[in-house]
Amino acid sequence: MSDPDPNHPRHVAIIMDGNGRWAKRRHLPRALGHQRGVEAVRELVRSLKDTGIECLTLYAFSSENWKRDEEEVDDLMNLMRKFIKSDLPEFIANDVKLKIIGDWQGLAPDIVEMLEDALAQTAKGGRTLAVALNYGSLNEIARAAARAAAAGEVTTDSIAAHLDTADLPPLDLLIRTSGEVRLSNFLLWQCAYAEMLFVDTLWPDFSPAHLRDALDQFANRERRYGGR
Ligand code: IPE
Ligand code: IPE
Ligand code: MG
Repeated sequence: MSDPDPNHPRHVAIIMDGNGRWAKRRHLPRALGHQRGVEAVRELVRSLKDTGIECLTLYAFSSENWKRDEEEVDDLMNLMRKFIKSDLPEFIANDVKLKIIGDWQGLAPDIVEMLEDALAQTAKGGRTLAVALNYGSLNEIARAAARAAAAGEVTTDSIAAHLDTADLPPLDLLIRTSGEVRLSNFLLWQCAYAEMLFVDTLWPDFSPAHLRDALDQFANRERRYGGR
């Protein structure tokens, strides 16, 4: 296999932010913003095969998002149930391999069961869609460090080997939508040398064209890794 093209990211992650503001601007309920957010995910996943990206990681629900009103959390969980059911056949048809990162076993038992089934049914897919559910990076690093210690060796390599993302390519590009410039407990370790792009677009408006634009910007970055 030839060396990867340095101008082309293998692994892109997105903090999908701004659903609430998208709805608010239109005087619509937040739930509708989340619904349109799911539609943006669907379009992006459909376009994945045209992008050359090996892995797309999406931040869908953080371990801190439980702090929201019960009604909003319920809306998000129900959207997740609906999305898995409606889009699983498309994932399979489009050669998508689903992966879940975060403490997803802590979600409702019926969702855990649906996810396990979706993971099994997409296991042979070629491109990875990693979804961060009940995910918090500090917790991920602590879990990985504990497992590395239990195995008798705490080094950066051994911790990395126990992260939820251990089997994914190194993170090349992190995108956050909605104008916020922070990581909100997402992929802190993996971002060590990732390129970052913060765009003002609200998540429901983020289209495959926006992703192509992000990939063009990535191609113009010079990565140095501390060298010169
Ligand atoms: C992102 O949109 C979706 C989740 C965090 C689940 P938000 O709901 O955070 O939207 P804003 O940030 O309030 O606009
Ligand atoms: C980050 O967005 C989490 C997801 C996109 C799932 P938040 O909206 O929860 O982040 P903060 O609260 O603005 O930092
Ligand atoms: Mg937000």
